[in-house]
Amino acid sequence: MTKRTPLIAGNWKMNKGTTAEATVLITEVRDKAANVSGVEIAVCPPFTVLHALKSVLGDNSPIALGAQDVYWKSAGAYTGQVSAEMLSDAGVSFVLIGHSERRGRFGVAEPDFTEGVLKYFGETDASVNRKTVAALASDLKPIVCVGETLNERENGDTDGVIRAQVEGALDGIFTAQIAQIVFAYEPVWAIGTGKTCSSDEADRVCGIIRATVSDLYDAETGGAVRILYGGSMKPDNASELLVQPNIDGGLIGGASLKASDFVSIAVAAASLPS
Ligand code: PGA
Repeated sequence: MTKRTPLIAGNWKMNKGTTAEATVLITEVRDKAANVSGVEIAVCPPFTVLHALKSVLGDNSPIALGAQDVYWKSAGAYTGQVSAEMLSDAGVSFVLIGHSERRGRFGVAEPDFTEGVLKYFGETDASVNRKTVAALASDLKPIVCVGETLNERENGDTDGVIRAQVEGALDGIFTAQIAQIVFAYEPVWAIGTGKTCSSDEADRVCGIIRATVSDLYDAETGGAVRILYGGSMKPDNASELLVQPNIDGGLIGGASLKASDFVSIAVAAASLPS
């Protein structure tokens, strides 16, 4: 079977967004991770601190930078959008696409996010697809996020939702491009809630992502694609999730804001039996 290098990616979300706090956190992560090998590490901070973090990390850092979103056009009259070319120029190599919080699907209910407001988060499978295509064209590695809500899970729709999100993201993408893509299975009900998906169930759903890629392309491509789990992953539950056969790493939210927690998850990934 293809050997897949584990990836631990931190999603800082809208946190650590001042240059001062972002610099402190990335410096700690860099220093604590200095001797960690056998795992790829990436951090996805807010756009506004990408340049500052790039200058802390320098050009040949083992810690990669990621962005939290991208727009599919390269330039033009698109107020507020950020293109793949701009991210590349800022030293970014990964980009989160289709995070549930951009799809307007939140693990923790926000009382003021009524229906009329949620539509402004606006990400759909079609926009995820365009963003994925654009990211690949600029040599960025998309981390495509998929996941079901609690309601969908309770209705028995998990597998269908996941398949549809994966198929939607990959529309028109060629076999050779799949190696650049990472998927992240993030059950919406486990994000920021402290509820983790059981490791067996997380592995089962990651297996559905893999099987969907195999069905759309071929078994070798499905066997090679990297799939992360995300949703309340912490140092004390990371190992049992990361050891699962279909899970190749983690997308870490809350625990990525504390350098020691984040790096200990990376160490857990690096210490897996090969
Ligand atoms: P969490 O977030 O680790 O805080 O649950 C994960 C994510 O949303 O990427």
